[in-house]
This record gives sequence, C-alpha cells and structure tokens, in this order.
Amino acid sequence: MTPYVDPALTWDLDHLRDVQLRRLKDTLARAYANVPHYTAAFDAVGLHPNDVKTLADLASVPFTTKEDLRRNYPYGMFAVPREEVVRIHASSGTTGKPTVVGYTKADIEMWADVMARSINVAGGRPGDIVHVAYGYGLFTGGLGAHYGVERLGCTVIPVSGGMTERQVQLITDFKPRIIMVTPSYFLSILDEMERAGIDPRESSLEIGIFGAEPWTQQMREEIEARCDIDAVDIYGLSEVIGPGVSQEAGTTKDGLHIWEDHFYPEVVDPITLEPVAEGEQGELVFTSLTKQALPIIRYRTRDLTRLLPGTAAPSYRRMEKVTGRTDDMMIIRGVNVFPTQIEEHVLREPGLAPYFQCVLTQPGKLVELTVLAETTDYMSPEARAEIGKRLQHRIKATIGITAKVDVRDPGAIERSVGKARRIVDQRPKG
Ligand code: DLL
Repeated sequence: MTPYVDPALTWDLDHLRDVQLRRLKDTLARAYANVPHYTAAFDAVGLHPNDVKTLADLASVPFTTKEDLRRNYPYGMFAVPREEVVRIHASSGTTGKPTVVGYTKADIEMWADVMARSINVAGGRPGDIVHVAYGYGLFTGGLGAHYGVERLGCTVIPVSGGMTERQVQLITDFKPRIIMVTPSYFLSILDEMERAGIDPRESSLEIGIFGAEPWTQQMREEIEARCDIDAVDIYGLSEVIGPGVSQEAGTTKDGLHIWEDHFYPEVVDPITLEPVAEGEQGELVFTSLTKQALPIIRYRTRDLTRLLPGTAAPSYRRMEKVTGRTDDMMIIRGVNVFPTQIEEHVLREPGLAPYFQCVLTQPGKLVELTVLAETTDYMSPEARAEIGKRLQHRIKATIGITAKVDVRDPGAIERSVGKARRIVDQRPKG
C-alpha cells in the first residue's frame, strides 16, 4: 500500500501561523459579505474584517453561539447559495429547533482529509478494515468517519449504530482492525461479545477511535483491559465540521492534536469570555479557516478543556481530553460536579459495571443527586447496598458532595446506541 502522506503535518510553526492568518482574513471577509448575521454582529461592535490584522486581533471579534444558529434556522447562516450546498447535517439538541449545518463539495473534501488524518494519527493505515458504528444520518459521526476511512485508503464497513448482535457478528466475520464508535456503545458491544461466548481480546480489533461524548482515563483503562486494543480519543462538533476537529495520537495518547490549519482554537473564561492564560482551563472556542458553506466565527463550544503545546510530530497544539460541557455541570450544594467525575469513581469500584446515570431531583429548596449504578453480577440487596455505601463514601471524600447511590441489578441502566444520557433531570420545570 502507498504510505499516506499529509504535507500539512510537516509545516513549521511560522508557516502554519502565516497560513492561518491568510485563511482567517478570507473567512472573516466571506462571512461579513455573505451572512447577514455576521454583517450585523460586526457592525454592532463597529468592527470591519479589515481591522483584523493579526491572529491576536481575533479576540475583538464577537462570539457565535448555538442560539445564533437556531435563530437563523434552517439556512440563514450559509455563506454560499443553497444550490452549492451538497450535504446537510443537523444536531438534535435537547430543546427547541435543531441546528443545521451545510457543506459544499470542497467542505466535504476537507472533512474527508481531516478525518483521514485523524484515523492515520490514531494508528490507521491504508488497507485497514474499519467498522463504523457511529450513527449514519443527520448526525455527523457515521458519514464523517465513512468519508475519512475511504480517503485514507481503507475498507469501510458502514454499520451505523444499533442491532448489537449484528455488530458482533460483523466484527467476527469481517475482521476489522479498527472500530469507530461512541465509547458508551462500545461497552454494549463488548457485553454482547461476552454474552455470545466470544473473548473480545481474541477479536481482530486493535484500535478503537472513540468520541462524540466525554469519557475518562478510567474508561480508557476499562476498555483497553477488556479487549486488548488501543483506545484513542476523537473530538469534534457539527457546527465546526463534525468528527475530526482534533485527534489523539495512538502512539502517545496524551491530548488531542487540533487540526488548526482548518479550525483555529481559543480558550476563554466561560463567565468573563476573556481569553485565559496559556494552558489554563476554560471554554473552547473555534473559528473555521477554510469552510465555505458555513464559516463559523468564534463559536462557543461549551466544552471545557485546556490547550497544550504541540509535540515534535505533529507540532499542532493539543487540547486536553474534554472533561465536560458547561451545560452538563451539576451544582450540588454549591459544588460543581461533572458526570465524568462520577464515571471515574464508578469505574474504580469493584463489582460495578461501567454504566451509570446522574438523576437530579429537587424535593425542597435543595438539588439532590442520585447516582444510579449497576452490578456486573446478580447479588443480594445487602451486597448491593454495601457497594453503594462505598461509592457514596468515595464521592464524598473526593468530590466533597453527598450523593445518594442506588445500585441496581445488571442491565438496569438505560443503554444507548450513540451518545449516553448521563444526566436525568427530574427537577420541577419553571
Ligand atoms: O458528536 C461529532 C463527533 C462524532 C465527534 C463522532 C467525535 C466522534 P455533535 O453531535 O454536534 O457532534 O456533538 C458535539 O459532543 O461539543 C462535545 O460536547 C461532545 N464531544 C464530541 N467529541 C467528544 C470527545 C459530534 N471526544 C459535542 N470528548 C461536543 C468529549 C465530545 N466530548
């Protein structure tokens, strides 16, 4: 097989910054000229795209939010005539209208390129067989992965999510080296393999490219131990492109390289919206540098992370694994808690399966958190209560909150074939 070569990965930093600035200016000019929302947003602060002369000047440009996309539903954010849009995706969202994103032919090519790059950095090579179990459809996961697999020169098995028994059958028969799927759904696939008497460590899988939802280092260890693969993180969001915004290298697994020749990252304080000091944690913000149909400027992702310097190869900056979204932050008696913190402790508790949910209620004035967990094997109610007590202690001792813990029988927690629902909000509305 011809080796896969991506020239942009060998650019030195000066060249990268030059290219970014040129592409940024072009993006701002196109957005200002063609998208009424951006014209109005710039005019409102008395800024013209020509005022942006350096990458640092980007800090004076207004942010874009999910609300802005919703207000312009469905096609109002497009910078090209609708006829040039060859593909639509949409993110479901929990409330209100979905956000719609569009791609020109050139956008689809760029997306295939960054996905091919991602799979390659994860450890994929031309000729590999790749099982794609991300959902196909309006969600960007399935088709995004699919085009990248083909671009890299691999064989794609476009399974989509669901029908777990069939997933196992296809893995057994087609012998993929790589699987691309949400980490939570991969756990269901592993369960099904074990139920069918197949040892996942004996399967053909060597690499798992997991993303679309937050997952912890503990989850990585659990998955790698159970099926003897390299579990690597892929990040992305529909508004920016879909999967393939950043990718962890299979060789190092130390943060995700951001493909910043196409997506320019910033981290801001989610309250003041000022840029944080280098390396500090905050909300990730992206500006697209090459997108045609839907240029996105200073998009507030709501995802919390920090920027890390690049490594020798590639030299692109990295982002730390996303710990959570500002939307998913639970505030329990004044303490901020993310579902990933609960995940860490559930996975550390012997006897518990790697499934959990955080149920929020408000019986009186105060919000209460109940952690639902389940055991790996059937056991007595007393034994379950004992495990629950231990988990409750761990949560109290490390996070500092009092949570109720309800440990149930195997299979009691809702399974998802895509993104897992970690928070069940049962507080009274209004
Ligand atoms: O989830 C795109 C994607 C598909 C990424 C497949 C990776 C793999 P959306 O549905 O628009 O797009 O959701 C984007 O999901 O803002 C994050 O909150 C979350 N997310 C995505 N990847 C990760 C990750 C896709 N690796 C939202 N770690 C983002 C943590 C992630 N959260």
